Amino acid sequence: MYLKALILAGGRGTRLRPLTYTTAKQLIPVANKPIIYFVLEQIRAAGIKDIGIIVSPETGENIKAVVGDGSCWEANVTYVLQEEPAGLAHAVKTAREFLKDSPFLMFLGDNLIQGGVDGLVSEFKGGSCDAVIQLKKVKDPRQFGVAVLGPDNQVLRLVEKPKEPPSDLALVGIYLFSPAVHAAIERIKPSWREELEITDAIQEMVNSGCRVEARVLEGWWLDTGKKDDILEANRVVLDEYARYEVGGQVDEASQVVGRVSIEKSARINNSVIRGPAVIGEGTVIKDSFIGPYTAIGKGSVLEKVSVEHSVVLENCSLFGVERIEDSLIGCNVRVSRDANRRRAFRLFLGDDSEVAL
Ligand code: DAU
Repeated sequence: MYLKALILAGGRGTRLRPLTYTTAKQLIPVANKPIIYFVLEQIRAAGIKDIGIIVSPETGENIKAVVGDGSCWEANVTYVLQEEPAGLAHAVKTAREFLKDSPFLMFLGDNLIQGGVDGLVSEFKGGSCDAVIQLKKVKDPRQFGVAVLGPDNQVLRLVEKPKEPPSDLALVGIYLFSPAVHAAIERIKPSWREELEITDAIQEMVNSGCRVEARVLEGWWLDTGKKDDILEANRVVLDEYARYEVGGQVDEASQVVGRVSIEKSARINNSVIRGPAVIGEGTVIKDSFIGPYTAIGKGSVLEKVSVEHSVVLENCSLFGVERIEDSLIGCNVRVSRDANRRRAFRLFLGDDSEVAL
């Protein structure tokens, strides 16, 4: 069975403003790597080469610049422009010319899961289902699609963001479909949030007698919709993948402890870096403490600061701030503290910034 893949990287990303004014949420780095790279790697690891990427008019060019033609992953990437974020099923409909009548893996471009999709893809190929969906037990299913299962992993019922969830099994953003999904999408109507929901399309498949099965994920699943989700994703990914690798220069007065990756041409002077952490290319760290679960993007300069459990993107300058914790800092940001500061803060913050002093 020849499978294609469809990554959904459109949408507005409003919950990650102000970062998503200038970048797509699927490009925000976790452990210094854009989220969509993890998605591409997992799709390739499942043996799929033909990959469509849904993009929006606002962020499409950004995504194209970062992902390119897919040759880095030995994949053929086709971009599909979705003019409006009119829902996940609408995205599938928009990609019909790319998908043709091929079965496909659909992967939401802001989701990360442990262990990849290889197993799920093989089971789908070896079976006779019209759809297989990935689920995960969660504490609060109200913010997700929720499924009810019968015997043999069969899906009986699905609801999108229910006020009273009928189970604790949330839909992870990973789905496998036969071309039967297209007829189901044609039959559904937009939901209360004016979107064509993939959850409704799958329910429609169930109602019309298609075989739809689910697999429950045991490992971690991260939906990187909000600031704290990004920090959590950074923590989990660093925990799993960070290695001790020193490519830059560390002077005698510095200490690098645990699984820390210091990328090439980075310089560490008179500082402590405690892993798991990653320091990007060309970044300079002086008289500072970089604590666990922290990723510093490339080209930044940090002096006399202490940063923990945070993500700092590219080309930032942080100076003289004793404790930065649980923070997500965008590109080209400057934070400084004057040693002789009186009680005034001088702020120059973009729309939708958040500061906790
Ligand atoms: O994260 C899992 C959840 O994803 C599932 O449990 C839900 O059933 C599913 O509907 C979806 O819910 P969200 O409301 O969280 O989806 P979101 O709007 O965040 O969009 C998910 C991804 O799809 C994101 O990368 C943006 C992209 N997207 C979204 C829409 C609405 C598109 O490419 N086009 C769209 O029209």
